[in-house]
Amino acid sequence: MQFFLDTADIGEIERGLELGMVDGVTTNPSLIAKQGKPYLPTVKEIAELVPGPVSGEVLATDYQGMLDQAHRLAELADNVVIKVPLIPEGLRVAAQLDAEDIDTNVTLCFSANQALLAAKAGATYISPFVGRLDDIGHDGMALIEEIIEIYDNYDYATDVLVASVRSTAHVLQSATLGADVATIPFGVLEKLYRHSLTDIGLDKFLSDWAKTGKSFDD
Ligand code: G3P
Repeated sequence: MQFFLDTADIGEIERGLELGMVDGVTTNPSLIAKQGKPYLPTVKEIAELVPGPVSGEVLATDYQGMLDQAHRLAELADNVVIKVPLIPEGLRVAAQLDAEDIDTNVTLCFSANQALLAAKAGATYISPFVGRLDDIGHDGMALIEEIIEIYDNYDYATDVLVASVRSTAHVLQSATLGADVATIPFGVLEKLYRHSLTDIGLDKFLSDWAKTGKSFDD
C-alpha cells in the first residue's frame, strides 16, 4: 500500500520524507492557498523534493483551459500527476492525457458510478473523498469497497487513492479493503505510530535498566 501526504506544506513534506513513509504527495487549490505562495512554483518545489508522484490540480473548468493548464503542470517535472475534477470535461481531459501518456488523478469523486466513468476515461488514480461523505452522514469507506469491487470485476488499471482521510481508522480500513493508496494529512500519519502500550513499555524497559546504575557500555 502506498502512502501519499495530502499537503502543500514543505515542512510537513520534509518531515514525512525523513520518516520514510511517504511515497508521494497530493495537493489541491485549497491546500496551496493555505501556504500563501504562488501556484505553479509551489507544485514545482514539491515535485523536486519528492521522488514519487505529486498531484497538481488544474484551476480551469473548461476542456481547453484544463488541457492547457495540464500541459503546463506536466512540464514542471516528470513526476507531476495532473488532477482534474470529476466533471464531463474533466474526464475528457483525463482521456486525452492518457493518450499522451500523462498520469492523471481524477478528484472529487463521491459515487461508484463516477469512479466507473473515471476508469473508462483511463484515469491513473481515482480520488474518492471519504471524509466529506462521512460529514454528510454517508459511509465513505463503503464507497471504497464498492469501487474496488467494480475495478476488480473489469480489471481496470486505475488505482484507488483514498482521499479526504481524517482518521487512523480511515487508513486502517483502506488497508483492509486493499486500496492502492491513501493520501493522508501529516497529523494522521503521525498518529499511526502511536500506541499507549508502546510508550508504557518503553518507559519500563528504560527505567528498569536505569535502576542498575549501569550505562549502555558497562
Ligand atoms: O486532496 C483532497 C482531499 O484529500 C481533501 O480532504 O479533508 O479537505 O476533505 P478534505
